[in-house]
Amino acid sequence: MPAEHSKLNASLNTVEQLPLTAIFSDNVAESLSTIRDYIRYAVSCFNEAEIFYGHGTDNAWDEAVQLILNTVHLPWDMSDVVMDSTLILPERKRILAKLKRRVIDRVPSAYLMGEAWFMGLPFYVDERVLVPRSPIAEMIENEFQPWLQAENVLNILDLCTGSGCIGIASGMVFPESNVDLADLSEEALEVAAINIKKHQVEGRVKLIHSDLFQNVSKKYQLIVSNPPYVDAKDISEMPQEFHQEPAMGLAAGIDGLDIVHRILKDARQYMTDDGLLIVETGNSCDALDEAYPEVPFTWIEFEFGGHGVFIISAAELDEYQGFFKG
Ligand SMILES: C[S@@+](CC[C@H](N)C(=O)[O-])C[C@H]1O[C@@H](n2cnc3c(N)ncnc32)[C@H](O)[C@@H]1O
Repeated sequence: MPAEHSKLNASLNTVEQLPLTAIFSDNVAESLSTIRDYIRYAVSCFNEAEIFYGHGTDNAWDEAVQLILNTVHLPWDMSDVVMDSTLILPERKRILAKLKRRVIDRVPSAYLMGEAWFMGLPFYVDERVLVPRSPIAEMIENEFQPWLQAENVLNILDLCTGSGCIGIASGMVFPESNVDLADLSEEALEVAAINIKKHQVEGRVKLIHSDLFQNVSKKYQLIVSNPPYVDAKDISEMPQEFHQEPAMGLAAGIDGLDIVHRILKDARQYMTDDGLLIVETGNSCDALDEAYPEVPFTWIEFEFGGHGVFIISAAELDEYQGFFKG
């Protein structure tokens, strides 16, 4: 091999071996100047680091656009012309600091932005709550049709509420309803309180600090829950991004059903006779069918992706009450 080629290969190898932290140095801030430069650079870093998507986007480009535009307070749908405007040095450094946290620490962009979208609505989020991503959003948007029979939806319970996204969005589609948001985590309820204020629903959306139904006293036409349901195997194999989320929002025993069994056992007492219970179980859906082969859970098919959400009516809960293990 000619001497200049082996020299070039040696220097390429050195660059390849640079720790990822080195690529977020001040040199980068000096050499990249426009929004377009930073988006391109972010996409390259994300691809090289093989980060995991699944907290709002599903590809490097969307993730980069979202994070960078948010960091410099620009809307996602701004004119393409702005892409070539020069960023000032503090903006460049702020972007690089966030890219570093996304790539090195694997922090989901939603936490870095302090925002996640659910059913087209913005919710404040931080590490105290799970990043909203439940497919139940699609059911809420369709006002839970064709399943919800109740003529008047007066009371709704969002059990295991986290950021409050499911309950607050449900309250938006049923503007006459009162909504209770229940969670065992006081920290999660602090975030839900921020979202109640953000969406100006203080008058009819309330917080309940509760271990499932323990401090709940009403009867509801609709109980919706996205509880912890990840089984031990999935927890051990989860990408690092999920480990940034509160563990008590995800883990639920060996088969992922510790909480779901308890919900099934107790829910009926808190439902009206025309009430409906909707619970997300994700990948633990097969384990649930195996645990209760007699119970005809209705599993929802989603148009826009997602799985593992069942509905069961108050009448069905009456019929199969004896089976639930709790
Ligand atoms: C999967 S997260 C869902 C958050 C939110 N509903 C969403 O869809 O983004 C589950 C939530 O359940 C809460 N949780 C865990 N165990 C609970 C319990 N025994 N009683 C009430 N809430 C519980 C956690 O604090 C967490 O906020």
